[in-house]
Amino acid sequence: MLIMGSTSLSPCVSLSPSLSPHPKSPNPNPSPNPFHLSHPSFIPISLRFNHPPSRSKKLLSPNAPNFFVAASAKAEPLKVIISGAPASGKGTQCELITKKYGLVHISAGDLLRAEIAAASENGKLAKEYMEKGQLVPNEIVVMMVKERLLQPDSQQKGWLLDGYPRSSSQAAALEDYGIRPDVFILLDVSEDVLVERVVGRRLDPLTGKIYHLKYSPPENNEISSRLTQRFDDTEEKVKLRLRTHHENVDDVLSVYKDITVKVDGNVAKENVFEQIDAALTHVAEQRKVNSGSLAA
Ligand code: AP5
Repeated sequence: MLIMGSTSLSPCVSLSPSLSPHPKSPNPNPSPNPFHLSHPSFIPISLRFNHPPSRSKKLLSPNAPNFFVAASAKAEPLKVIISGAPASGKGTQCELITKKYGLVHISAGDLLRAEIAAASENGKLAKEYMEKGQLVPNEIVVMMVKERLLQPDSQQKGWLLDGYPRSSSQAAALEDYGIRPDVFILLDVSEDVLVERVVGRRLDPLTGKIYHLKYSPPENNEISSRLTQRFDDTEEKVKLRLRTHHENVDDVLSVYKDITVKVDGNVAKENVFEQIDAALTHVAEQRKVNSGSLAA
């Protein structure tokens, strides 16, 4: 596991229910620009720090991420972003992370595929971009992700954001909304491995479980017979998706460099999870210690 972050402070931002717009409630003054707040209940990020950064503490652990977690009187749920190239294993790791940490998994790709399945106008438009391996316009993605992040279950249990942000403008939108993760996990996987993972990936439409014909084969013939393949999982399309990823990844990383944990994603999924688990355990422990010292 490579730690990219330097010693710096991650402000603890809370979106208390009273400050958060009601999920799915129609905005009376919709803004044409999704990056600017039009909801009257939003207040500037600087007013929403739970505590000044000077209250932060650092735990000393040899394999721990090298950044601070801000103190809070009550330990808040974890907020995690997981990022990486197409087929780097984000979805696979999210299954393991949610199982252990109980976070709400919010996948931008899954939200878009749900729109496609519902044959909505947004879904029809999104599919045109996804088929070309390009980013779906922010007008569709930003509000969709933001609304999901602000729903009560995400606020109460904590969230695991997968596949968002994918550009500097998407990252800026989160920052504008005062939404900042505790940790940014980057899965690092070599390109030849990515292509092999894409073409062998299969999905169980009944359970949503991710399989791979070689690395995670289905448990029995019944499951095997119902597996499906994603429309953008071809060698040709993954090359386009990879190009889009390379064009944007550095911009996104620069926003989160102080809280980035780079994980070797080339190894077996259990070993990838071990690295992520160590980082998340550390962040969660730091929060507990910080909240304990404040309460004392
Ligand atoms: P999205 O659905 O997010 O696709 P992606 O980023 O290309 O990532 P994948 O879902 O393909 O892969 P993954 O990293 O989850 O890997 P997985 O765990 O499945 O996005 C699709 C499209 O939607 C985008 O191209 C874009 O058009 C649009 N979009 C999405 N977000 C957007 C945004 N924010 N803005 C604009 N547009 C957006 O694993 C892959 C395979 O490998 C599986 O078969 C798995 O079993 C296997 N595997 C996983 N880990 C391992 C391991 N350690 N060892 C061996 N095999 C493994």
